[in-house]
Amino acid sequence: MIILKDEDFIAKGNERACYHHPEDNSKTIKITFENNKRKKSKQSDKEIKYYKELIKRGVKSWKHLPEFFGETKTNKGDGFIIELIRDYDGSVSKSFAYYLKENGSKAYEKELAIYKQYFLDNCIIFNYGMMPKNILLRKNSETDFDLVLIDGLGDVSHFTLPNKIPYFARRRITRRWDKFINKYLK
Ligand SMILES: Nc1ncnc2c1ncn2[C@@H]1O[C@H](COP(=O)(O)OP(=O)(O)OP(=O)(O)O)[C@@H](O)[C@H]1O
Ligand SMILES: [Mg+2]
Repeated sequence: MIILKDEDFIAKGNERACYHHPEDNSKTIKITFENNKRKKSKQSDKEIKYYKELIKRGVKSWKHLPEFFGETKTNKGDGFIIELIRDYDGSVSKSFAYYLKENGSKAYEKELAIYKQYFLDNCIIFNYGMMPKNILLRKNSETDFDLVLIDGLGDVSHFTLPNKIPYFARRRITRRWDKFINKYLK
């Protein structure tokens, strides 16, 4: 079991929190905190399941998703280990929501196009968690940025068969992408 200390806390959302991995500063541990009497996160289950599927499928690039390193038990409950997204200067990357507020969406057209293409090329399905607060903007240098989806991987629907057929998967990705753009970036 991994012991997470309060001082290792990084950030939290409505359901889950991230802590620095005590033995590896390139990794973070995501746990579900006790909220709404719910200890187990459906979101995490879905995310872990989808990560395993991607690994089985042999996805080659983790440029736009934190890499997954398996599940673990902690003193704060069940969790899973993922890559901690950091900028070139070592600081934990800030959310896309933060940068949109600073600079507007026009400034990130190139990054958005590359990000969308990654999901299409790799047939990676995202859900309605795809929103600016759930995307980090990783600064690889002062001018080179990647968008990274930290929350919203996998499908809401149980009918996953269409997702296994690339043609249907890409159609679903395109539809969800258009909704994401219309809802958050217009
Ligand atoms: N791989 C990561 N690297 C760096 N920070 C991360 C990473 N994953 C999550 N975080 C931070 O932890 C916060 C909580 O994670 P996450 O969004 O997965 O939780 P959540 O409770 O599911 O969120 P929501 O409220 O959107 O449902 C994020 O907003 C982000 O600040
Ligand atoms: Mg979130």
